[in-house]
Amino acid sequence: MADQPSPFDAAKYKRAQREQWNKDGAAWRRWNPVLDRWYGDATREMLDLARIQPGQRILDVAAGAGEPAVSAAERVGPDGYVLATDLSEGIVALALEVARERGLRQIETRAMDGEKLDLPDASFDAVLCRLGLMYMPHPVTALREWRRALRAGGRVAVVVFSTPERNAWGAIPASIIRRRAQLPPPAAGQPGPFALGGPGVLEDVFRQGGFAGPEVRTVPAPLRMASAAEYVRLAREAFGAFNAMMAHLPPQERESVWDEVEGAMRSFESAGGFEVPGECLVGTATK
Ligand SMILES: C[S@@+](CC[C@H](N)C(=O)[O-])C[C@H]1O[C@@H](n2cnc3c(N)ncnc32)[C@H](O)[C@@H]1O
Repeated sequence: MADQPSPFDAAKYKRAQREQWNKDGAAWRRWNPVLDRWYGDATREMLDLARIQPGQRILDVAAGAGEPAVSAAERVGPDGYVLATDLSEGIVALALEVARERGLRQIETRAMDGEKLDLPDASFDAVLCRLGLMYMPHPVTALREWRRALRAGGRVAVVVFSTPERNAWGAIPASIIRRRAQLPPPAAGQPGPFALGGPGVLEDVFRQGGFAGPEVRTVPAPLRMASAAEYVRLAREAFGAFNAMMAHLPPQERESVWDEVEGAMRSFESAGGFEVPGECLVGTATK
């Protein structure tokens, strides 16, 4: 009899996410300048759609090493307040360091599961989440929680990746690693980078989460770097999921997989440097 795929264990997945980001947080922070350029347009669009005003109270869920919390804090100004939360206590501690280095006193951080907020009802004007919602096993549960924490008329605004076909930076390495590590294709309905990127999916989870008037915009997000070799350095240091996918391979085999990834990514090199396609969706809705 063929092996049955083991059922998805959301609690185990969350523990792995927390461990991975506790480990990779420092690299994510180190690569911040590259990440900020890469996601800059999508971040600005998200902040605009959230209609952030000076003096407001903003919740950033899955805040990572500080974005979009830091940009939101600049928009709310010294009379506003931003709470940056993340499942990983290690990465959110780095967010606080980044905020203090920029002299932003209006940011606080707390470790918290985005699907279960330890926060009072109706206590924020907007909820932001950049590249986090698709890693939550129950995005509708998360959105219902965020809605609960919003005042009436408050806005939610998120960034997620669109589809693998439009995100060669992730899809090509993932398919090489998957083949070499002999992993099955990702199962439908499970969290992951492209889980909310299909047509109509984000609008649908907003509606199921109780939000009104969902609006989703497509924002190109090509990754520009010096070379395919630099891309591989970023991926090795900051994309923990790739490392996790091949953790069971012997070290020499892992090196050989990275060599194959670099070879494939060289097709995005030109005289002007390295540019690989990427695409984000920026979604917003109202309580
Ligand atoms: C790709 S990073 C994005 C970080 C940051 N928002 C940014 O855009 O740079 C994904 C983040 O989601 C966080 N995360 C994953 N699952 C989560 C959950 N259930 N609740 C809160 N944060 C979660 C991870 O710890 C990680 O910091």
